[in-house]
Amino acid sequence: MNNSKPWKKYPLIASELEEVNQFIQKTIKTPNKSLQTALLQMADNGGKYLRPSLLLLAAHAVGKANKQTIKLASSIEILHMATLIHDDIIDDSDERRGNVSIQAAFGKDVAVYTGDLLFTDFFDLMLNAIDENEYLVRNAQTMRKILNGELGQMAERFNLKQTLDDYLGDIEGKTAALFRLAAEEGAHFAGGNIDQSNALAQFGENLGIAFQIVDDILDYSGGKQLNKPTLEDLATGVYSLPLLLALNQPALRDKLLPLLNKKRQMTLADMQKVQSILLDSTVIDDSHKLARQYAQKAIDNLAIFKPNPAVLLLKKLPNTLLTRSF
Ligand code: IPE
Ligand code: IPE
Ligand code: MG
Ligand code: MG
Repeated sequence: MNNSKPWKKYPLIASELEEVNQFIQKTIKTPNKSLQTALLQMADNGGKYLRPSLLLLAAHAVGKANKQTIKLASSIEILHMATLIHDDIIDDSDERRGNVSIQAAFGKDVAVYTGDLLFTDFFDLMLNAIDENEYLVRNAQTMRKILNGELGQMAERFNLKQTLDDYLGDIEGKTAALFRLAAEEGAHFAGGNIDQSNALAQFGENLGIAFQIVDDILDYSGGKQLNKPTLEDLATGVYSLPLLLALNQPALRDKLLPLLNKKRQMTLADMQKVQSILLDSTVIDDSHKLARQYAQKAIDNLAIFKPNPAVLLLKKLPNTLLTRSF
């Protein structure tokens, strides 16, 4: 596995992450050879493996990783990959994990079915690992929350009246729900009690919200080194936190409206103007401030745990993601 990612720092779960990677490589199968190669590359290369890492750290916080937790960590990463493949179709994004995206390489039609194929792999692995109805239901609910979060975001596209609550509700669904499930499953299937799995579920949710806020900030302020394109949200009419905060300030709103009113007709130059209005204001700092509040909530959710190496790493994780340079 490409190990240039933050988890290199965490020898506690490094070998298990390698197992997860192997498991994913074994699971993904399609007769289309070039598609197979692209998927294996996507699985192996450039992904941060945040969600499986969270699941495994949660397992170690309460007990030990085992066959079940490895399978579940793999299932969650595959589900995540499926949503990314579909996300790139919707966002018309040519780049993913530092490579050409599946939709750009194979076309949107192939990419739709490829995402669906990975959803099936997710179900297979998850059904194989779980024999408790409650957790089967929780996996289905999580997938539903992700999709409703995406649909919510879509319904708000180009909406100048979108509220912060709308935004927070959508990112809780599209991103935080999966972080929540990862942490909760890790704890539960490593033998954690209900208080422990609830605390880790809350931790995952708050961490996921902080993470998505930072991702949204990086759509304006990120650079090449992050393997992430910029200004995609704006181009697709997704008004995320920095822009919503700016729209709440009358002076900035007056400058932004003539540009935003062009909607899909905005040129790159228009978008760069929006970008510099935001970068020259306090909204990036203000957005970071909100991300920090969620990160702090996440750390507070871990108060019930006695310190052990995994708990200490989990406590550092929110700040690692806030200041991410990967
Ligand atoms: C991308 O997630 C989608 C968001 C929730 C912002 P990641 O940034 O974790 O993507 P990978 O897995 O590292 O590619
Ligand atoms: C991620 O949202 C999609 C999911 C969480 C399913 P983004 O659109 O912000 O992700 P990136 O920025 O393309 O990675
Ligand atoms: Mg996207
Ligand atoms: Mg994004």
